[in-house]
Amino acid sequence: MPDHPAAIAALAARDSARQQAPEDAPEDTHAFAMRFATRHATLAPSSHNSQPWRFVLGTDRVMLCADRLRALPVVDPYDRELIISCGAALFNLRVAIASLGMGYAITLFPSSTDPDLLAEVRLLRERATAPELAALVGAIYERVTTRHPFAAEPVDAAVEQHLMDAARAEGVEVACVSESEPRNAVAGLVAEADRQQFADPRFRRELAKWIHPRRTDDGMPAYAAGLGGLLDFATPLVASAIRTFDLGGGVAATHRDLAAGSPLLLCLATGVDNAQAWLATGQALERVLLLATVHGLCASYLNQPIEVPELRPRLGAMMGLQGAYFPQLLLRIGHGTPDAATPRRPLEAVLS
Ligand SMILES: Cc1cc2nc3c(=O)[nH]c(=O)nc-3n(C[C@H](O)[C@H](O)[C@H](O)COP(=O)(O)O)c2cc1C
Repeated sequence: MPDHPAAIAALAARDSARQQAPEDAPEDTHAFAMRFATRHATLAPSSHNSQPWRFVLGTDRVMLCADRLRALPVVDPYDRELIISCGAALFNLRVAIASLGMGYAITLFPSSTDPDLLAEVRLLRERATAPELAALVGAIYERVTTRHPFAAEPVDAAVEQHLMDAARAEGVEVACVSESEPRNAVAGLVAEADRQQFADPRFRRELAKWIHPRRTDDGMPAYAAGLGGLLDFATPLVASAIRTFDLGGGVAATHRDLAAGSPLLLCLATGVDNAQAWLATGQALERVLLLATVHGLCASYLNQPIEVPELRPRLGAMMGLQGAYFPQLLLRIGHGTPDAATPRRPLEAVLS
């Protein structure tokens, strides 16, 4: 049993979703299904664990809204990662509904005047829209971001192909590298991006704000902050150290080693760079992550070269993407020991 308050809260969030097993669903209520699906949506990953979403529940539908009060204006000035995070939550909604044997009809961006309304998901009781997604529901509870080094053991080629197919099923392009030479090149770019980001005090201040050694329902607890062995993350001094010092050199070295040592780097990319593409990317991200979890794989992020605008096209070229594609996320994937789960806000806090 974990003893850290944030880890206990993290388990509670997962358990409250898991304990509502589909078999318990009352025969006649859509309301149950909507709450069930929304609970699962909240277990999605989000940048800095900001959980930038709100849900408006109706009797047979749920509206997914962006919560821009939780934006990260320095690292994510256009809310690109914010919308990607909401896309991951939307994918969990779809999986949860599928696991109840129900279907859904989704209208993306249902309002021409309010860009914060990202999707309306309507329940279709009579038929399952995507029964193949139901098998992913267990992975929603298990998936965590794992920032430790992975084993050198390669990712099976057939599994790699499945992960790529999963991204493409969501309309998102994907490129993988597993050979050491391109991995090392990408690792160098990640390190360059780290140095640039940490040299900016505004970036450090924003990151520090989301490292919450004591708070328990959002942000990254010390154990998940993931800056390698650079600092003792068990202490509340972490956030203060990040805010105060340019730790870019140490962080860059750690991330370069993590990138170069991971057996598979996977980049999600889109042909356009707008909110629709970001929402699709989020769904592709969660589909890839849940499938990786099913296959016993761990994953973590190396988005820094995408967050530094001038490095983004260089990453695309290194990953072998055509110039027409915009890299959206860079993941490292491999075999490892999953990290502890991060906390989530309670369902009532995200309902409007
Ligand atoms: C769009 C997006 C971008 C992210 N970028 C990073 C990143 O650059 N570095 C990192 O370590 N984690 C990154 N994460 C992972 C989040 O920090 C993580 O999802 C969050 O802390 C919740 O933890 P969990 O994934 O274990 O549930 C990102 C997640 C999302 C959805």
